[in-house]
Amino acid sequence: MADRSFLDWPFFEPQHRALAERAREWAETELGGIDHDDVDGACRSLAAALGEAGFLNLSAPDAKEIDSRLDVRALCLMRETLSYREPLADFVFAMQGLGSGALSLFGSDAQRRATLPGVRRGERLAAFALSEPRSGSDVAAIETAAVRDGDHFVLNGEKTWISNGGIADFYVVFARTGEAPGAKGLSAFIVDADTPGLEIRERIDLIAPHPLARIGFADCRIPAAAMIGVPGDGFKIAMSVLDVFRSTVGATALGMARRAFDEALDRAGSRQLFGAPMSELQMVQAMLADMAVDIDAAALLIYRAAWTKDSGAARVTREAAMAKLNATETARSVIDKAVQIYGAAGVTSGNVVERLYREIRSLRIYEGASEIQKVVIARQALFEHKKHAL
Ligand code: CAA
Repeated sequence: MADRSFLDWPFFEPQHRALAERAREWAETELGGIDHDDVDGACRSLAAALGEAGFLNLSAPDAKEIDSRLDVRALCLMRETLSYREPLADFVFAMQGLGSGALSLFGSDAQRRATLPGVRRGERLAAFALSEPRSGSDVAAIETAAVRDGDHFVLNGEKTWISNGGIADFYVVFARTGEAPGAKGLSAFIVDADTPGLEIRERIDLIAPHPLARIGFADCRIPAAAMIGVPGDGFKIAMSVLDVFRSTVGATALGMARRAFDEALDRAGSRQLFGAPMSELQMVQAMLADMAVDIDAAALLIYRAAWTKDSGAARVTREAAMAKLNATETARSVIDKAVQIYGAAGVTSGNVVERLYREIRSLRIYEGASEIQKVVIARQALFEHKKHAL
C-alpha cells in the first residue's frame, strides 16, 4: 500500500483528500481482471465504469466558469491512483480529458452541450489529433489543411500516433487554416469519427498496448461550426490543453513509481539473501532511499504545478514541463531499480515490475518528449533572466 502521507500536504482541499480515498477504494475493488488481449473492448468497458462511478465528471466538467472547468489536482490524484493499480484505466481516464480538453477550455456552450455529457458518461470516447508523420515535436509545422468552402471546411492530411485512434467517437483535430505562417495559422476542429473522408489507415502496436492509430483525412467535409475557438488559435489551444495535461502525465508516472517502490519494498523484505532479508543489505537500502527521494521530489513538483494552475495562474507552462520531465524520468529510474531488486523475476513476463518497465517508456515521449520539456524550461529561464536584467 503506497505511502499516503502526501495527502496532508497543503496543496490539497478537503474534497481532494476525499476524492483520493474514494478513487483508491474504487480502484482496489473494480480494476481486477482487465483483458489486455482486447484493449479496445477493455477501454470501452473501463470508460463506462469510470463514467458510472462519476470520475469522468472531472475529465469533462460541467462548470460554466472557464477557471473552474478543470481541477488539475483532482486530475493528478485520479491518474496517480489509477496508474498505481491499472495503467490502462489511467489511459482511458486521461484520454477522456485530453481528447475533450479543447472543448472544455475553449468550446462554445453549444459544442460543450453536444459532446461533453457523452464523454462524462463514458459513452463517447475522445481523441486528441495533433501529431503528424512530419510534425511530432514541432507543432508549428503541421501540414493537415482545412480549407473553407462555404459553410464547411474540407480537411486533407494525415495524423499519427493518435491515442484512441480507431475506437474514438470523435477527434479534436488541429489543422492549418493559413491565417499566418507557422504557429499562428492553425485552428482546432471537432470531427465525428463517422464523418465521410476520415479514415483509420493503420492500427499501431505498442510495447505496452493501448489503442493507437494513424488516421487520414481525404476531402473530409466538416461544418464551419465545428471549429473550436477562433481561426488561427489552434496552436495556443493545443498548448493550453497540454499545460493542463502535462502535469497529469507526471502524476501517472508517479503512480507507477509508487507501485514499483511498494513492490520493491515487499521483495526486499521477504527475499532471503546471504542468510538475511535483502533489505538488510546496504546497497539495497541505497536503492530504496533513492527511490523514496525521487518519488517525493516528483510529487512535490506535480502538486506544485497543479496547485498553481488551480489557484488561477494564467500559464503554468514551466511548472507543468518541470513536473512532467522530472516525474517521467525519475519514475523510469525507480522502476528500473525495482526490476534490479527483483533480479531475474523482474524481467519475467507477467511480473508487475516487468509490466511497469514497459509502461513507463512512452511517457517520456508523448505530450512533449523530455527534450521538449527542457526547451520550454530553458526558454522561460532565459526570458525571466533577461527581463530582470533590464
Ligand atoms: N499557452 C499559450 N500560448 C502559448 C503556449 C502555451 N503553453 N506556448 C506557446 N504559446 C504561444 C507563444 O506565446 C507564441 O505566441 P506569441 O508569438 O504571440 O508570443 C506562440 O504560441 C508560438 O510559441 P513558440 O514560439 O514557443 O512555438 P514553437 O514553434 O517554438 O514551439 C514547442 C514550441 C514548445 C516546441 C511546442 O511546439 C511543443 O510543445 N511541442 C511538443 C508537442 C507535443 O507536446 N506533442 C504532443 C502530442 S499529443 C500526445 O502526445 C497525446 C497522446 O497521444 C497521448
